[in-house]
Amino acid sequence: KRPIIIDTDPGIDDAVALAIALYSEELDVRLITTVAGNVGLDKVTINALRLLQFFNKRVPVALGAERPLIKEPIDASDIHGSTGMDGYDFEEPTEDLVLKEHAVNAMYRVIMASEKPITIVPIGPLTNIALLLKLYPGVKENIAEIVLMGGSTTRGNAGVMAEFNIFADPEAAKIVFQSGLPIVMVGLDVGLKALVYPEDSEQLKDMNQTGKMIYQLFQKYRGGSMKTGLKMYDSCAIAYLLQPEMFQVVDTFVDVELSGSLTTGCTIVDLKNYLGKPSNAKVCVDIDPQMFKQWFMESLKKCN
Ligand code: BDR
Ligand code: CA
Repeated sequence: KRPIIIDTDPGIDDAVALAIALYSEELDVRLITTVAGNVGLDKVTINALRLLQFFNKRVPVALGAERPLIKEPIDASDIHGSTGMDGYDFEEPTEDLVLKEHAVNAMYRVIMASEKPITIVPIGPLTNIALLLKLYPGVKENIAEIVLMGGSTTRGNAGVMAEFNIFADPEAAKIVFQSGLPIVMVGLDVGLKALVYPEDSEQLKDMNQTGKMIYQLFQKYRGGSMKTGLKMYDSCAIAYLLQPEMFQVVDTFVDVELSGSLTTGCTIVDLKNYLGKPSNAKVCVDIDPQMFKQWFMESLKKCN
């Protein structure tokens, strides 16, 4: 089993990604860390605990950054609802999975204690990961790679050019891309094509408990506008771990714009090497949407 840490801000698409990862036989989720993003830190942490209790999975949870490194916080409650996971009435979770240490310290400890290098899977803003790499640079030795959901080679979804996770904390994202670690960027180029339509959602309803829960969350995702397809951004990062063949990947140089007058928070993906810099990331530039859909439904069938 491949050991991973998921850094997340649940989030409806985070919830689906967590379901798939936690029920996968190939992944060993050693730690879940939370970060303010889709909604505030307290809410996303409760959501992570709600999900773990719902799945009956015992993975430690550590609270991370309450705000970005420099920017003022933003959120995406317009997409995920004011709770961050509107649509399903979860039981109030117990807090026994919550660690007393900060996410950054918990990651450091879990990574250094691992018998083999760990893969980090950030599916929220990159604040915790940037802090980890700056506070404990030695941790890089035992990180296999960072497979992150964020960025875009073209347009944005939080602004004209910026994707939400990068836009929410661009300074953190820049630190991560400049870390020298192997990075896989699973961004909007694939997320916008990883779609779930009403007929798919109907299938989830009768699949199992998890499917039923996700079906209900989907009724509220993006205000319930499902006709044009709901985007399973965060599941794409998990899909890359489990079935990379569905992606087209290019090795290239990526940087983050911090001070553009119109483009702050956008990823500069230098596909034609104008900047002459060596590549620092594998960028997923395309996905086979049918393969994704099939993988997605099969993966959710493995849940309870
Ligand atoms: C990212 O933004 C969040 O709203 C989603 O959970 C996903 O991680 C997509 O841009
Ligand atoms: Ca997310």
